[in-house]
Amino acid sequence: MTKPRIYSGMQPSSGSLHLGNFVGALTHWRQLQEEGDAFFSIVDLHALTSIQDPKVLRQQVRTLAAQYIAGGIDPQSSCLYVQSHVSAHAEMAWLLSIITGFGEASRMTQFKDKTAKKGIEAANVGLFTYPILMAGDILLYDTNLVPVGADQKQHVELTRDLGERFNKRYGETFTIPQPRIAAETARIMDLQDPTRKMSKSAETDKGIVWLLDEPSRTLKKIKSAVTDTDGSIRVDAENKPGVTNLLGILSAFTGRTTAELADEYDGQGYGVFKVAVADAVIGELAPIRERTLELLDDPAELDRILEANAARAREVADATLHRAMRAMGLR
Ligand code: AMP
Ligand code: TRP
Repeated sequence: MTKPRIYSGMQPSSGSLHLGNFVGALTHWRQLQEEGDAFFSIVDLHALTSIQDPKVLRQQVRTLAAQYIAGGIDPQSSCLYVQSHVSAHAEMAWLLSIITGFGEASRMTQFKDKTAKKGIEAANVGLFTYPILMAGDILLYDTNLVPVGADQKQHVELTRDLGERFNKRYGETFTIPQPRIAAETARIMDLQDPTRKMSKSAETDKGIVWLLDEPSRTLKKIKSAVTDTDGSIRVDAENKPGVTNLLGILSAFTGRTTAELADEYDGQGYGVFKVAVADAVIGELAPIRERTLELLDDPAELDRILEANAARAREVADATLHRAMRAMGLR
């Protein structure tokens, strides 16, 4: 049997990945790249919907590339590339927009969430068509598996619907992908407000561990994590969200179950427990931070890696794009 094609991507929409991205996405990808033929993109066209400063965008693309590599994505075996380097993405989004219903696109909950605060009038059209661009990303590579967080499930379902609709209307063209949704346990919560997931869009970053934070800062953030006053260390998401989140983090970084860890640390006090969490996190993240900084020190080499991978991506994407164009009566 041939290896499954795996495709995923992240937006270069912050100055660094955080602990949630690392546990929920990167460690998952790292594992999957062993099992399949993987493509991992830096979706800068998507990030344009929220970033206006060209310098910031360029820097964040390089930082994300360095963090993918430092975090364990091997740019020799996986295709790690920047979306805008492959022009087929923008073209495919247009073709797919033709078969997407306006009502269908209007039902995307992420668009509704993102426009809830400022209202729909303030949103750009790119934010609205964002899921169509994403569907194109996935369909261009004959993808079998799409590892994403639960928040992206609806977009992968749209991708499947569009692929099936296209195949029915114009003839067999696209492979229909399956989502691979990260386990709920891979969801990391904000250290200051453990009822909300750790997110780059939080108001303060006191509860966010950035992969580029210095170890001393990470230690401080974990030591100041909000817990509770009952003193026991056990899994209880409802009554003890802070402690439960820390157990989840420790479990992700040690490979041990939260139940085992709760047994070991209960009775030792939150101080000891938090230091153990910080040690495990820093032990893994400090070398990744160092490697990221090294890679960023040589942007020409980083750009060379990205260009070599874009050439590989173009070959696959252009073939699929042309197949779709011909099916529709173009070219
Ligand atoms: P985002 O930071 O929202 O662009 O998400 C990038 C990737 O990281 C997606 O695959 C998300 O599912 C994942 N992710 C984001 N935040 C978290 C979190 N707090 N815990 C686990 N995974 C997350
Ligand atoms: N929309 C995804 C997110 O915000 C990023 C993304 C863009 C993506 N294109 C993709 C993820 C294709 C998986 C496959 O996380």
